[in-house]
Amino acid sequence: MEPNQIIQGDCVQLLSQMPEGFADLIFADPPFNIGYKYDLYEDRKAYDEYHAWTERWMRICAQRALKPTGSFWVAIGDEYAAEVRLIGNALGLHLRNWVIWHYTFGQNAKRKFARSHTHLFYWVKDPTGFTFNDMAVRVPSARQTTYADRRAHPAGKLPDDVWSFSRLCGTFKERVGWHPCQMPEKVLERIVLACSNPGELVLDPFSGSGTTCVVAARLGRKYLGIDISEEYVRRSRQRIAETLAGLRQPTDIAENPEALRHLRRVGRKGGSQAQGPTLW
Ligand SMILES: C[S@@+](CC[C@H](N)C(=O)[O-])C[C@H]1O[C@@H](n2cnc3c(N)ncnc32)[C@H](O)[C@@H]1O
Repeated sequence: MEPNQIIQGDCVQLLSQMPEGFADLIFADPPFNIGYKYDLYEDRKAYDEYHAWTERWMRICAQRALKPTGSFWVAIGDEYAAEVRLIGNALGLHLRNWVIWHYTFGQNAKRKFARSHTHLFYWVKDPTGFTFNDMAVRVPSARQTTYADRRAHPAGKLPDDVWSFSRLCGTFKERVGWHPCQMPEKVLERIVLACSNPGELVLDPFSGSGTTCVVAARLGRKYLGIDISEEYVRRSRQRIAETLAGLRQPTDIAENPEALRHLRRVGRKGGSQAQGPTLW
């Protein structure tokens, strides 16, 4: 099995056949069991069934696929956030952050407050040995932007654990249009930059439209995506090829100098195998 590909299949089955400890970073954005319309997957399971399945895929990710120095991120909605948190505990993971991704353009509600957030759990396996590139993800601080305070760190500050990025609306250029819950690349950029180094491997067991893999490829990481849907796999491979050929760019890529540098260096040579077929 070579990296830099998206493969079709059931992530639990496939990961159980792959080598142990190959992933430096895992980002998992499973179906939330809230009735979303996927092309294949049925997103409305009984509580016990969904809970047991969540325990299964989290276990294989954390205890088999992840390196001892690796980081594990899981996105989940309110409905199962508490369960996912407890499964993480039971698997012996160490929670670094419980990030709230607060988004604008949330779903409208008539008889309750509109939902505008998703939970992002960030765990490590070893609390003393993990990657966190703080300089890669700093943002301007209020000391810099508001108070012109000379004590401000010139590189800015680390972001808070509440992240504000818009959801991808129908009109956004970044949106692929064929997947019901595409994540914004901005969310993944921060995670990939902070929790992996160039050349390391990023695994997404529910790759969907391919966001994690696209971002990992653009930032010079190796990637492996898995999705149960043949259609999503075919289209997300195409998305990666177009991104690396420079045909598809999020509008704000210019804000990320590391991504731009990498695109110039590698991407324009074309193809997702631009870094060569290095085995993990
Ligand atoms: C929430 S979406 C992921 C969206 C992705 N983060 C993105 O930005 O496009 C969940 C995906 O999991 C896939 N899926 C469901 N069950 C799966 C399984 N057992 N193994 C692999 N993929 C699965 C679905 O087809 C769907 O594309």
